[in-house]
Amino acid sequence: MKHAEAEERISKLKTVINEYRYHYHVLDESIMSEAAADSLKHELSQLEEQFPDLITPDSPTQRVAGKPLDGFQKVEHSSRMLSLQDVFDEGEVVSWVERIEKLVPGRKLQYFADLKMDGLACALVYIDGVFTQAITRGDSFVGEDVTTNVKTIENIPLRLFDTDGKLSNFCKGRTEVRGEIVMYKDDFARLNDDRRSKNLPEFANPRNLAAGTIRQLDPRLVAERPLKFRAYDLLREDPTEVPTQEFAYETLRALGISANSQAKSFDHLDELIEYIHSWSEKREALPYFTDGFVVKLNDRALFSELGVVGKTPRGAIAFKYAAEEATTIVKDIVISIGRTGAATPVAVFDPVVVAGTTVQHASLHNADEIARKDIRVGDTVVIYKAGDIIPQVERVILELRPKDSRQFDFESELKRQYPELEFEKPQSEAVYRLKINSNSFIYPESAKQSTTTYPPIVTVTNFLLERGLEHFASRGAIDIDGLGEKNVQLLVRNQLVKDLADIYQITKEQLLKLERFADLSAENLINAIAQKKNPPLEKFIFGLGIRHVGAQTAIDLANHYGSLDSLKQATIDELKVVDGIGEVVAESIVAWFSDEDNLELLNKFSNCGVTPVYESKQSGPLVGKSFVITGSLEKMSRDMAAEKIRTLGGTFQTAVGKGTTYLVMGAKAGASKADKARALGTEVIDEKALLDLLGE
Ligand code: IVH
Repeated sequence: MKHAEAEERISKLKTVINEYRYHYHVLDESIMSEAAADSLKHELSQLEEQFPDLITPDSPTQRVAGKPLDGFQKVEHSSRMLSLQDVFDEGEVVSWVERIEKLVPGRKLQYFADLKMDGLACALVYIDGVFTQAITRGDSFVGEDVTTNVKTIENIPLRLFDTDGKLSNFCKGRTEVRGEIVMYKDDFARLNDDRRSKNLPEFANPRNLAAGTIRQLDPRLVAERPLKFRAYDLLREDPTEVPTQEFAYETLRALGISANSQAKSFDHLDELIEYIHSWSEKREALPYFTDGFVVKLNDRALFSELGVVGKTPRGAIAFKYAAEEATTIVKDIVISIGRTGAATPVAVFDPVVVAGTTVQHASLHNADEIARKDIRVGDTVVIYKAGDIIPQVERVILELRPKDSRQFDFESELKRQYPELEFEKPQSEAVYRLKINSNSFIYPESAKQSTTTYPPIVTVTNFLLERGLEHFASRGAIDIDGLGEKNVQLLVRNQLVKDLADIYQITKEQLLKLERFADLSAENLINAIAQKKNPPLEKFIFGLGIRHVGAQTAIDLANHYGSLDSLKQATIDELKVVDGIGEVVAESIVAWFSDEDNLELLNKFSNCGVTPVYESKQSGPLVGKSFVITGSLEKMSRDMAAEKIRTLGGTFQTAVGKGTTYLVMGAKAGASKADKARALGTEVIDEKALLDLLGE
C-alpha cells in the first residue's frame, strides 16, 4: 500500500473504531461485534507498523484501558501494568519468536502459556503478608484504589499463607499479585435471569459487568455481584525471587491465591501451538470466559531484558482465538459456473482467519444478494461462518468504502468474464443459468473440438459433465484411450458417471449393458482407465478444467507446488509469485479449490486410488526429493529454504505425506510430526543435514 493510501485508510479505521468504542463503553450498546472491531484494530496496528510515521497519540492502538475515574483515589503502580500485542494465527506466533531470536541469538527459549481471561486487570498489594490495597490498571502508570470493593471478592485471601513453610520471604515486605477479576458464566446468567424477572435491563456481557461492579461506589452492591480473582503475575522488589513464570504460578497457589491450573511451560514452539489449539473448543466448558492464550517467555530475567515497545512487552503476546467474525477487503468478485450451470458470484478477498481457518472467498449467492447487501469491489466487509463452516459476507462497513469502489453489474460481468457463453434467468429464480443450446464450451482446448449438437433432453449438468469428462480424458490431459466424445456421452447419459472420479469405479458388467460395448471393448476401456491411476500431476491439474488453467499453467503449478495438497492451500498472493500467473488466474484457482463440490471430488479421486505423481522435469541434485520443515531454522527462513530446495530440483511440502523424502526438524520442533514421518518411512534429518544437501 502506498503512503497516501495508508494515511486515508488509517484515518477511516480510527473513526470507525472510535465510534465503536464510544458506543460500547459509553452508551453500553454495540454497533458491531467485538470480533469485527478487533479485526479492524489489528489491521490498523499492522498498517501503523508498516508506516510508523502515521501513528498519532490518539490512535486506538495507543490506548491502555480507560483513564482513572474521579471518585477513586489515584495510585501509582510499582511498575507499569502493560497490555499485550494481539496475534491471530500461528504464523504471527512464529514471527514473534523469530523477532526474539534475532535480538538474543543462540538463547534457548522456553514459553509459558495461560488462558487469557476476559475480565478486568487488577493489582493486589500485600504488605507483610496482609492484603492492603487493590489497584485497577488505569492508564498503565496510575490506577484507581478499589480496595474496599475488591475486599468483597471471596476468593482473595486477606492474608497470604505460607503453606509449606518455604515461602516465608513472600510474607515479608511487599508482594504484589496481578490478575484478572472475572465473573463466572453461570453467575452472569443467574444475575441476568434475576434482572429479567424484575423487568430490569439485562447486562450486556460479564466483562463490562465485572468492570462496572468494581467501580461501584457502594461496596454493598459489589458484594451482591459474585466476582472471582485469578492471578497471573507475582512481583517482588527483588525480581530474582521469582525466576520463572512457572515458579510464579506455583508460588501463587501455595500462597493461597487461585491461578489457572491449565497454565504450562513448553520447550518447543510446536507443542505450545498444539496446546493452544487443543483448548480452542475445550475452553467453552470453563466456568469463566476466555478469548485466547497469553504466551510469555518463561524466563523472567530475559522477559525484562527484552523490554517494552510502546505499551507492550516484547517478551509476551496474546494469541486471540480466531473469532467467528473478521473484517477484510473485497478485491474482486468472480463468477463461477457450478456443476448445474448456475452462475454464482464469489467475493475474493485478502486472506483472513475466521473461526480457525484462513478464508479468502465467499459465495455471494446471486445478483439480488449483492444488491441487497450493496457489496462492491474495494469494500471492507464483515465475514462470518455460517454453521461454523461456510464463510459468508455479513455486511459492508460503509464508513470504510473507498471513493473508487466498483459496483458489480452482474449481467455485464457475466458477459465480460464468459464472453463465449450464453445465460438465462428464469423469471421465478434469482439465479442465472448456462443455456445449453448456446453450443459453447467452458473447458480449454480439447473440449472446443467437439462438434456434437445437443438434443434438448440433455440437462445442463450433463452437458457440463460431458464437456468436463471429454477434457479430462483427452490427450493433453489424462489421455485415456477409448474415452472419446461418444463413450463419454454414453456413460454420462446412462448415469454410470456423475462426476469425473466415477470413471474409476465403472465395472465391466456395467459397460456390457450398453449397446456400444462388447466383451473386448469393455475390458479395454476398463484397463485404459485403470492404467491412468497415477497421472502426472500437471496433466491431472490441467484435466480438472479449472478456468484459465491451460496446459502450460498446469505445468508451472505442478513444478512450483509439487503436490495437489500444497496447491490446494495456496493463497492468491502466493500463486502470483509463480511465473506466468496473474491475478485473474490466481483468483480462479483459489475459487476452484474453495468450492465444496470440488474438494469432495478430489477426495473421491483419492478414495478411488487416483494419486497424481509429480516428477520434477527440472534438473538438479534434489530431483525427486521432497521436504517438509518443522520448527524454525537458524540459518535461514523457511521461505528461503523452500526456494533453495526448488532451485535444486526438489519439492517443498507443507505436511508430511506418503511421498515425503525428508522431514527437517528445526529448533523447537515437536515430536508429533517426527513420529508420523517415521511411520511413513520418511527420513528425519536436522538443519545441518539439510544445509549439506543444499550444498551450503
Ligand atoms: S499476563 C504484560 N495472563 O490480558 C502483561 N494477562 O492483553 C502480562 N489477561 O493486561 C499479562 N488473562 O489484563 C496475563 N492469563 C493471563 C491473562 C492476562 C487475561 C489480561 C490482562 C492483560 C491483558 C493483556
